Amino acid sequence: RLPDRVKIVEVGPRDGLQNEKTIVPAETKIRLIDMLSDSGLSVIEATSFVSPKWVPQMADQMEVMKGIRRKPGVSYPVLTPNLKGFQAAVEAGASEVAIFGAASELFSKKNINCSVEESLQRFEQVMVAAKAAGVPVRGYVSCVLGCPYEGKVAPAKVAQVAKRLYSMGCYEISLGDTIGVGTPGGMSEMLEAVCKVVPVGALAVHCHDTYGQALANILVALQMGVSVVDSSVGGLGGCPYAQGASGNVATEDVVYMLHGLGIQTGVDLPKLMDAGAFICHSLNRRTSSKVSQATHCKL
Ligand code: HMG
Ligand code: MG
Repeated sequence: RLPDRVKIVEVGPRDGLQNEKTIVPAETKIRLIDMLSDSGLSVIEATSFVSPKWVPQMADQMEVMKGIRRKPGVSYPVLTPNLKGFQAAVEAGASEVAIFGAASELFSKKNINCSVEESLQRFEQVMVAAKAAGVPVRGYVSCVLGCPYEGKVAPAKVAQVAKRLYSMGCYEISLGDTIGVGTPGGMSEMLEAVCKVVPVGALAVHCHDTYGQALANILVALQMGVSVVDSSVGGLGGCPYAQGASGNVATEDVVYMLHGLGIQTGVDLPKLMDAGAFICHSLNRRTSSKVSQATHCKL
């Protein structure tokens, strides 16, 4: 049975933009986030408090956080890899954060420069500080369906990391197919393993669409009881430490599919498409959303 309602976590301003070579002005990011807020999305991941040497595109995180118009009822989480990032995020007014681990050792090393175990220890520190500050924490697990450096990733390893993040207090665990290699069978096998250790109501899927499998994988997750889906407006995105990772599944396409299934999202598709058109125009790039392409062809 499919859920009646799905929460979409819009990651475009963070995951979508972090891989852009040319620095996008803070005012463009702020305008994008404000337009996304107006489209009815309830969660918009705004930026990351990571090292500017690692991800120069996110160096304006403070300016972005101070510049956005916070719509009541909308949350604007940010990525925080360590305590330093958490403290900066709180200073910038973040009221929700996300820690991000991986099910693959080599990816962890390349992405956050430490082993999976070391990362979990760092996240414990963030968690202690977040609990004290009353800040909810989301947890990501990357490479759940494959790793750019290690290839196959065992569902048991994904379950193990997901369980650790959940046990330390993350209210939601987002399972990332970082390089978009997964197919529906793999998604189902992986979710089965994770659902044994984390309640399905606390799970989200985060599919990159590199191999065009994202919507199929999302549908399988919905059928298995997942009701939180991460996506990126215009299908922007990719991880700078996962070569070949293309964008996340386009939010427009996810919304179109969900509404077609009679599932509520609270999102106004035309307004969302306006936000997609705005950012694609600013980046001088064609949208990766099939729905937006089709709609604009008709004009
Ligand atoms: P490190 O070099 O090991 O860190 O990097 P360090 O603690 O040794 O510090 C080195 C320098 O970085 C120091 O500065 C620190 O102050 C500074 P220096 O003394 O050299 O001037 N530093 C920081 N600066 C700002 N904010 C911070 C911070 N921490 C240290 N929070 C570190 C470790 C984690 C910082 C680094 O590896 C990093 O920033 N990595 C982030 C990589 C990233 O953002 N990747 C993309 C997001 S993950 C993703 O996209 C996947 C996801 O979408 C899910 C999926 O698709 O699977 C979430
Ligand atoms: Mg991602």
